[in-house]
Amino acid sequence: MIFRQLFDRESSTYSYLIADPDTKTAILVDSVLEQVEHELKLLEELNLTLKFCLETHIHADHITGTDKLRQLTGCEGIVPTNAAVNCADSFIQDREIIKLGNIEIQAIETKGHTDSHMAYLVNQDRVLTGDALLIRGCGRTDFQNGDAGQLYDSVTNRLFTLADHILVYPAHDYHGRTVSTIGEEKHLNPRFKARDRQSFIELMSNLDLSYPRKMMEAVPANQGCGKV
Ligand code: FE2
Repeated sequence: MIFRQLFDRESSTYSYLIADPDTKTAILVDSVLEQVEHELKLLEELNLTLKFCLETHIHADHITGTDKLRQLTGCEGIVPTNAAVNCADSFIQDREIIKLGNIEIQAIETKGHTDSHMAYLVNQDRVLTGDALLIRGCGRTDFQNGDAGQLYDSVTNRLFTLADHILVYPAHDYHGRTVSTIGEEKHLNPRFKARDRQSFIELMSNLDLSYPRKMMEAVPANQGCGKV
């Protein structure tokens, strides 16, 4: 399997390029509009055909590259079920599997950061956690119909029940960390470690964060798959 973690410095977003070396087919997860040229160059260098652009959720901090990539490559845009978008080629459901040659990517419904969110388990050995679970943190729950109780349930029931050795690849990191494991996050993540549902809800309601700078532009653009 070809697996590349790509980084957009402006929004601290990680995108992931996953490809099957035999069929030369690829999928991009959480593409960033400003990085499309870079993503296309990498696809070309590795001689890959982009089949799918997949989102973990509708982002508030950057615009997706899906629409541009779809125009340039003919790939399909896939978003989680119930996402308020008018442009997806298809919606992915909980436990649904996308196949790319020998690679299996399984959706794990992980709502709470937003009201429509999937993590993606790749070949049973790594999970792209979106903004549900970050390294030593988690996504905020104070807009886009976020719900702290629901996020607590998603992380503890759906992600922390995966095997400890499974690698965790988040959609963001603001401190240069790139990868963790389920076991590490279960024991070290301060948002969840030794915390029950009620105290997590209290913690999340007192974060007092400012809104993302691009939110007013990014959310409507992403509801159109990044058409700007
Ligand atoms: Fe997000």
